[in-house]
Amino acid sequence: MVRVIQISDTHLSPSKQHFEANWAPLAHWIAQHKPDLVIHTGDVTIDGADQEADGAYCATQLASLGVPVLAVPGNHDVGEVGNPHQPVNDERLDRFRGHFGDDRWLRDVEGWRLIGLNSMIFGGGPEEALQTQWLETAMADAAGRRIAWFMHRPLFIESPTEADTGYWSVKPEPRRALLDLLHRYRVKIVASGHLHRWHEIRLNGTHYVWGPAASFLVGEKLAPPMGGTARLGAVIYDIDGESIEVNIRPVAGLTDYWIDDVVHEVYPPREAEA
Ligand SMILES: [Fe+2]
Ligand SMILES: [Fe+2]
Repeated sequence: MVRVIQISDTHLSPSKQHFEANWAPLAHWIAQHKPDLVIHTGDVTIDGADQEADGAYCATQLASLGVPVLAVPGNHDVGEVGNPHQPVNDERLDRFRGHFGDDRWLRDVEGWRLIGLNSMIFGGGPEEALQTQWLETAMADAAGRRIAWFMHRPLFIESPTEADTGYWSVKPEPRRALLDLLHRYRVKIVASGHLHRWHEIRLNGTHYVWGPAASFLVGEKLAPPMGGTARLGAVIYDIDGESIEVNIRPVAGLTDYWIDDVVHEVYPPREAEA
């Protein structure tokens, strides 16, 4: 049996320590549950997209867990397509890769193929085309393995056919192409972060897992109503051959910080980039 733990949205920084107190209990909980692999589904940093020190600090923290860690980038780690303040670009992607390794990856574990995707480039640019090509190959040569995707932004909030939800989920056009691939290869699990909510959706044979954050919650002033609950935690995947058991779990000792209380300090308004 192989145990994978998904953690998400730790939002750590040496200069903005608003959520720092949640790291030690999370690390302790991970050690207690003895995973073979930890997957971080993004927003590792407060602002790794622009602050070299944030990436360096978080890479050290992840390494201190003493188990293999794979990460995919969140919007705060590399920016995102179409964001006027922090567009994802080569410099930001290189910074992420320098600290955390490839922004897309695959690992074969028991009867499963785990695939990490960079959801911050969905919807544009040459990097997206490269990733799509890579993903199609990764799916085609899975050789009968069951497939799980890990990404920061969820494919959708309520329905695969919903309109653009703005900041919250993948845009309709890249979503359609991904869902087409997902159906063709019968992807069993799509695990995401970003929403800082605890939720599961089972639809047409796919289990969508919203991995809760391990930093802060988002109040109603900053986020529209959506599924699941505002609750911190992490996810345990116990994989045995072709079977998998998925459990979203609370993490003892985490403090329920609310971003609404400190957003002016942590994420003050920014100038648009030229
Ligand atoms: Fe986040
Ligand atoms: Fe995010």
